[in-house]
Amino acid sequence: MHHFHYMDEELFCEEVRVSDVADAVGTPFYLYSHATLTHHFRVFDSAFEEIPHLVCFSVKANSNLAILKLFADLGGGADIVSGGELFRSLKAGIEPQKIVFSGVGKTPQEMREALDAGILMFNVESAQELDLLNTIAGQMGKVAPVSIRVNPDVDPKTHPYISTGLKKNKFGIELEDAIQEYFRTAELENLEVVGISCHIGSQLTEVDPFVDSFSRVKDLVARLREEGIDISYLDLGGGLGITYSDEEPPHPDSYAKRIIQVLKELYTAGVVGAAVGNGLVHARPRDLTLILEPGRVIVGNAGILVTRVLYNKEGVKKRFIIVDAAMNDLARPALYDSYHRIMPVTDPGRKKVAADVVGPICESGDFLARDREDIPDASRGELLAVMSAGAYGFTMSSNYNSRPRVAEVLAKGDELFVVRERESYEELVRGESMPEGI
Ligand code: LLP
Repeated sequence: MHHFHYMDEELFCEEVRVSDVADAVGTPFYLYSHATLTHHFRVFDSAFEEIPHLVCFSVKANSNLAILKLFADLGGGADIVSGGELFRSLKAGIEPQKIVFSGVGKTPQEMREALDAGILMFNVESAQELDLLNTIAGQMGKVAPVSIRVNPDVDPKTHPYISTGLKKNKFGIELEDAIQEYFRTAELENLEVVGISCHIGSQLTEVDPFVDSFSRVKDLVARLREEGIDISYLDLGGGLGITYSDEEPPHPDSYAKRIIQVLKELYTAGVVGAAVGNGLVHARPRDLTLILEPGRVIVGNAGILVTRVLYNKEGVKKRFIIVDAAMNDLARPALYDSYHRIMPVTDPGRKKVAADVVGPICESGDFLARDREDIPDASRGELLAVMSAGAYGFTMSSNYNSRPRVAEVLAKGDELFVVRERESYEELVRGESMPEGI
């Protein structure tokens, strides 16, 4: 469900006419829908309402401050992977106690910053990282809250670049070795075991790989409990896919239902007895908070990239529609050969043609759509919308070919907010110098 729709033959984002935005800010630009962002966050969050949980939005998917603030206002936390993402999250008003820090390569400086901020937990991915975190926390006179990221060795059946939970991937600690590392963590003076985490990949369109991996993680939690190591946070990562073309990923409700089914016994088995005033002992469920790290499912279909056609060119073998957005603005097609639907901004009933939609960058890999038969027949000067670009769109953009990064705009009802200005040429060279003597 999203709020990009046609009215009077024109594409709108909520009540804002997309061509008006192009007139106001120029092209290309990312355009996000406030209502869609809010709706997706709420649907995901409420899918887990029957158990204690925290939705930590995966900042790498879209790190614009206005969007992070929107999620903060909805009670969300953040899943971060760098000092920069920590900085953004705090600036956007996300509570430190709702921030989890993932990633295989945290630097000492990033660890210090996160300890200073007082984040919820570090998802630690190697034995050496545990040792370093212990040392740094000790130097700061702090105790670092730790969750070990385990690698459940499950095939997520997604693009190999975005699958992370297989033994051959660099992520997490092998399930078999995790117990040992938990014992070690418990012994280290400046670390405190608080959780366990996993993440098997992104753009998953089936629930089964999640179920397989979570049941392995669940067994490990049970085993740890037997060993006297209690876990307060069970972080299941992100990964739920979206529809780019004809994929039919599970709705968050059915995803949540299956997951809760798998994890149920962790909440019921060995309920903790709590003494009450009259001396009776009431059973209460264990204190176990689920952490979810969705990225794409929240923002992917809440954003589009709008671009203008510069030229049409009839090649020997095919037609090229050359537009003003390029692989530096949206890297996914070039990097993963991923599909993004291309829609016309006016006159949606127009005929479709076989064409490549390509950008101005000097590389054959610079395409937004390749070998496609569903491209709207668009001429010079017309606007095209690259759909489903809200996740890993702007965040993966670069200045390649010295192209300033594009503007980001948020529509809310009939209001329009520029939430990131287009970069200027001066900003392109900021920090560069031409020292005397070179
Ligand atoms: N948690 C962890 C530890 C992750 O590594 C990721 C994504 C997420 C959560 C969020 O996953 P999501 O819910 O968005 O699937 N650039 C690629 C996707 C890379 C995903 C990396 N990790 C793309 O454009 O498809």
